Amino acid sequence: MCIYRHPFNYYPTISMLQDRITKDMSSSSASRYLAKIYVFWLILTSCNNSINAQLTPTFYAKTCPNLQNIVRGTMSKAVAKEPRMGASILRLFFHDCFVNGCDASILLNDTPSFKGEKTAFANQNSLRGFKLIDTIKRNVEGVCKGKVSCADILALAARDSVSLLGGPTWTVPLGRKDARIASLSAANANLPPPTANLTTLISLFATKNLTARDMTALSGAHTIGMARCTTFRFRIYNEPNNINANFATTKMSNCPSLGGDNNLAPLDMSTPNHFDNGYFKNLMSKQGLLHSDQVLFNGGSQDPWVRLYGRSNYVFAKDFVNAMLKMGNISPLFGSLGEIRRHCRFVN
Ligand code: HEM
Ligand SMILES: *[C@@H]1O[C@H](CO)[C@@H](O)[C@H](O)[C@H]1NC(C)=O
Ligand SMILES: *[C@@H]1O[C@H](CO)[C@@H](O)[C@H](O)[C@H]1NC(C)=O
Repeated sequence: MCIYRHPFNYYPTISMLQDRITKDMSSSSASRYLAKIYVFWLILTSCNNSINAQLTPTFYAKTCPNLQNIVRGTMSKAVAKEPRMGASILRLFFHDCFVNGCDASILLNDTPSFKGEKTAFANQNSLRGFKLIDTIKRNVEGVCKGKVSCADILALAARDSVSLLGGPTWTVPLGRKDARIASLSAANANLPPPTANLTTLISLFATKNLTARDMTALSGAHTIGMARCTTFRFRIYNEPNNINANFATTKMSNCPSLGGDNNLAPLDMSTPNHFDNGYFKNLMSKQGLLHSDQVLFNGGSQDPWVRLYGRSNYVFAKDFVNAMLKMGNISPLFGSLGEIRRHCRFVN
């Protein structure tokens, strides 16, 4: 059943799309074949989002009509000052949604009664942007006190991050409540490590009802932001078979085999502050930074999607938006199952 129409702010017709795809792609017959299959896919899946009917873009239309401008305005200043902040906020949203759903659990500090998610392997010394979320929340509370959840603020801020860095934009379904608890063990069990192989990545995303194709499109988020040496050291020193040799050598200069754990490298070396399909082009030339990036293009099941996204920024943007909507819809809390936190770091 189609409960929610694709809430894109652009509505391409199928023929427009086919036109765009074939224009974007090289003219090899394999590519044309793939483009046809893709268009067929779009028709088959165009009603298949199972977006939760309880979330709606107009949720705050009466209680906080200016919400989206406040979030966008604060994000816009922050990203202008430091573009990487857009990447950090997008990642926060991913790490929120993958651990017990998009419920702002990621934002909670540890308390005597539970250990939160901030010290999980994937999060500690790594996640950024908490202060910016606090600032947005403060600005929102100033105008609409006690009305807007931290989970929704994060969903909007993540969307704005992508569009402020030149990526696509979309309409965000709203109405999530905030969790009263966070879980360190759930964070460790659900967040993928950079050492993951393709099988592990696909099955981890499948537990969130995200397909392998969703996973590959979402990994395109690594077109922005930075990674620490400790997350890619093993790859640049030990995976000669699926890494570009010059790329590996260049990365070694700022990531010694011993020490320098926190030295940073851009996930997309060519346009690290621009949300585009550069990430997939890197993979095709064996210049994925993380092991978990390059496994998407290493002779396995995701190679065709990587090629398609690498050729067409348009198709990538469309699949990315679709997958972000699905990810943003993971187990939202409603009604008495959650609360509207006053401060994003603490339960009320
Ligand atoms: C597919 C499995 C994924 C793995 C294994 C993974 C792993 C990582 C790692 C290890 C880093 C570097 C962190 C650090 O060194 O501090 C990183 C950064 C990042 N990830 Fe992922 N990630 C995955 C998927 C995603 C998804 C689905 C998104 C968003 C939709 C995302 C968005 C980002 C962003 C934007 C950054 C840069 C953050 C910044 O510069 O602050 N990642 N990821
Ligand atoms: C992938 O990684 C998992 C967990 O580390 C491991 O159990 C599995 O054997 C690996 N699969 C392949 C195909 O390498
Ligand atoms: C995935 O889909 C199944 C079947 O519809 C549902 O029971 C489950 O709650 C979903 N899981 C998530 C994380 O949305």
